[in-house]
Amino acid sequence: MILVVGAKGMLGQDLMRVLPGDVRGVDVEEIDITSPESVRRVLVTLKPRVVVNCAAYTDVDGCETNRELAMAVNGEGVGHLAAVTREIGALLVQVSTDYVFDGTKGSPYREDDPVNPLSVYGKSKLLGEEKARQNPDHLIVRTQWLYGLGGKNFVETMLRLVGERKEVAVVDDQIGSPTWTVDLALAISQLLDTDCRGTYHAANRGTCTWFAFAESIFAEAGKEMTVRPQTTEELGRPAPRPLYSVLDCSKLTHDAGLALEEWREALKTYLEKRRDAGRN
Ligand SMILES: NC(=O)c1ccc[n+]([C@@H]2O[C@H](COP(=O)([O-])OP(=O)(O)OC[C@H]3O[C@@H](n4cnc5c(N)ncnc54)[C@H](OP(=O)(O)O)[C@@H]3O)[C@@H](O)[C@H]2O)c1
Repeated sequence: MILVVGAKGMLGQDLMRVLPGDVRGVDVEEIDITSPESVRRVLVTLKPRVVVNCAAYTDVDGCETNRELAMAVNGEGVGHLAAVTREIGALLVQVSTDYVFDGTKGSPYREDDPVNPLSVYGKSKLLGEEKARQNPDHLIVRTQWLYGLGGKNFVETMLRLVGERKEVAVVDDQIGSPTWTVDLALAISQLLDTDCRGTYHAANRGTCTWFAFAESIFAEAGKEMTVRPQTTEELGRPAPRPLYSVLDCSKLTHDAGLALEEWREALKTYLEKRRDAGRN
């Protein structure tokens, strides 16, 4: 059985839809990953063969002021999962982030590039990676700029603003790859069919800035909005972000034969699904 931890989150919901076979999902009501007892109780009872951990404290700015919680959930919590999965002989799949990098490399990050997180969130997720490796049978999947039907995200924020205003300022100096949670969930699912272990980067192909992403969202959705470029400094968010955090996903292609589609194609499909789901 495959157990998805954090099954009610944005990625967790799509994983529950795409993973084949015997799949169970638990979220914070049934498992608190910050509690070793809770993790032990659930995992020893359910005896999964694979645990995919999507549970996390994902409020990047909130992490700056809630360091202890960030470290407990994103770091130590993964350690509890690693300890028990190792004990019961299960594979641990840990979802991680481009924010483990500082963004100064200037070309796409490979899995073995030096890490240097700028934010508390990035540091806590890096601790989570280190903890995940305590189970030798692990996969760490780093991804970025996620959006999906089941959670708060940039696409939904932009589309909500359409009814509220005519102009929006969006950061034009951070570069990455917007990634649809369905494409990521499918990649994780397919990765589980391979013998691949260790760290992999997985994101939709191609790159853009948040500004260019916003323009594409309004254009593809057929919505009127003036998008004004601004700098990260002008926006002044509490958590520092890497300016260039594109992930080189060629190892995923080389080892597993997997390549996620181009981000614009993924966005188009997402907007269609969204319309089908009755959202405008
Ligand atoms: N979103 C992105 O852009 C992005 C980018 C790169 C990597 N990632 C990583 O991708 C993964 C999935 O992200 P997401 O955006 O799908 O996250 P999400 O929507 O915030 O979902 C996380 C889930 O974990 C639950 N949770 C929080 N604390 C928990 C605890 N102590 N025990 C058990 N469950 C707990 C949350 O419950 P509550 O909602 O009730 O707190 C929520 O259901 C995370 O590892 C994240 O770090 C995300």
